[in-house]
Amino acid sequence: MKRLKIALIPGDGIGKEVLQEGVKVLKTIDKIDNNLFFEFEEFPWGCDYYVKNGKMMDDNGLEQLKDFDAIYLGAVGHPSVPDHVSLWDLLLKIRKGFDQYVNLREITLFNQSLTPLKDKSEKDIDFLVIRENSEGEYAGVGEWMNKGTPEEVVLQTSVFSRKGTERIIRYAFEEARRQKKSLTSISKGNALNYSMVFWDQVFNEISQEYPDVKTYSYLVDAASMYFIKEPERFEIVVTTNLFGDILTDLGAAITGGLGLAAGANINPERQFPPMFEPIHGSAPDIAGKGIANPLAAIWSVAQMMEYFHEGNWKDYIIESIRVLLKEGRYLTRDLGGKSLTTETGDRLIEILTQMVTENKSK
Ligand SMILES: NC(=O)c1ccc[n+]([C@@H]2O[C@H](COP(=O)([O-])OP(=O)(O)OC[C@H]3O[C@@H](n4cnc5c(N)ncnc54)[C@H](O)[C@@H]3O)[C@@H](O)[C@H]2O)c1
Repeated sequence: MKRLKIALIPGDGIGKEVLQEGVKVLKTIDKIDNNLFFEFEEFPWGCDYYVKNGKMMDDNGLEQLKDFDAIYLGAVGHPSVPDHVSLWDLLLKIRKGFDQYVNLREITLFNQSLTPLKDKSEKDIDFLVIRENSEGEYAGVGEWMNKGTPEEVVLQTSVFSRKGTERIIRYAFEEARRQKKSLTSISKGNALNYSMVFWDQVFNEISQEYPDVKTYSYLVDAASMYFIKEPERFEIVVTTNLFGDILTDLGAAITGGLGLAAGANINPERQFPPMFEPIHGSAPDIAGKGIANPLAAIWSVAQMMEYFHEGNWKDYIIESIRVLLKEGRYLTRDLGGKSLTTETGDRLIEILTQMVTENKSK
């Protein structure tokens, strides 16, 4: 029997609402599968915590989290706290502190009706973006000089170390080899004449070790256009922290929106716990109304199952999402339905339970 300890950080706004639905899915798995047992501990960290305590998480927060098998996060952010504080003092602290240098974001169209792209269907939009998650443009290095004066100058430095660049690109090549798919690198070597020239060079160097993997290399501006016009070009994509952040929101937009997009933060050496989260934020505009789409958070549970080598459960969850979207009766407003977050979550669990039971009896 596998006992897995999950740290829950619901965070702020709709983060709390959608995480509850994901936890219901985990509890369903726990109930059905005699070999899996989940233990949960919830942490109250986020913007409310900041307002009361002047910090987003406990000072020894990473110490408290380090022995968990996974962290499951809702979302952080509230208008009462500057966004750079809520992001850097919780989310990025965990990603960096636990060296979760791989960010996995699947861009999969479940149902043709969900894409705003004309003439594109499920077979055209199905790829994985591997985003560098520990350095690059989000290294947090810079300077703010002569603040508030006419001579004010701000520097935000990107950091691309050989170790950091090689390890993400190598990870992507390994994944492409394993899945027998092509690998596309997205950079900007023409304008960013140090960092992105270096990125392209490392990509070329490592590609020599993987002659079996077909490669492509695009500038980020061209790649943005192809995401819309020809998404079928992509199978596996590797890119930098900033480009990956932006492009995957675009990826979400062509597959049904932020309510359907999940992201996994992984330390592949498994020295530290991974963190699973929907990629959307706390959505203050709809928070507290019970109308947020929980499917991104539920998809995160599927990614968690894959990380735990429980691929069957990943497949069941993904298939259940597909069925729920196809039947179209329990969709939240962002997808054109009228259901509440909890109703969508409950229906998902019904579909999942039925699917597993039917499969067992075969
Ligand atoms: N990972 C994170 O925790 C994360 C990510 C992005 C933004 N943020 C924070 O969230 C706050 C709001 O940021 P934002 O408005 O730019 O982005 P957002 O993702 O919160 O919302 C963008 C839009 O998408 C909608 N939306 C998002 N998720 C949805 C869901 N599950 N169901 C239905 N609609 C959904 C929102 O209603 C909003 O109109 C800010 O404080 C920001 O810093 C946090």
